[in-house]
Amino acid sequence: MIKILVLHGPNLNMLGVREREYYGTESLQDINARLTEMAGAEGAALEARQSNNEGDLVSWIQEARNRFDAIVINPAAYTHTSIALRDAVLSAGVPTVEVHLSNPHQREGFRRRSYLAGAAIGQISGFGALSYHLGVRAALEHLKQAGAART
Ligand code: DQA
Repeated sequence: MIKILVLHGPNLNMLGVREREYYGTESLQDINARLTEMAGAEGAALEARQSNNEGDLVSWIQEARNRFDAIVINPAAYTHTSIALRDAVLSAGVPTVEVHLSNPHQREGFRRRSYLAGAAIGQISGFGALSYHLGVRAALEHLKQAGAART
């Protein structure tokens, strides 16, 4: 069975409360529940974790090697600061999709740079909670194609 790890970075535990004009009204628990259901309907297993600490995210990415088939991550503010997360994704070698609820390119200039983007297979942003759904779907399609290419 395909296993997807969904990682949420700092302050995403505050979804539904924080800056609703950017991030909407849905809580992280609601988003995770819908993602789990959607993955299940596709015959995949999904595990979601959130941390406000960079080191936790680095460790979880490293541990995903040999345990998960793909990672879908919203690194939140660490997108714009963390070389450690980028290096973790590169060293784990697990196909990774970067997602954002808002469109960082429509916001402050410092949000335009993503250290992770070059290590990810692709990026989805600007669709609110739908970005996560599209991210999981993109990961599943990517794995399907990669599997098809191997056979
Ligand atoms: C975010 C965008 C980031 O710039 C910001 O720091 C976040 C959330 C998003 O999902 O739109 O915390 O990753």
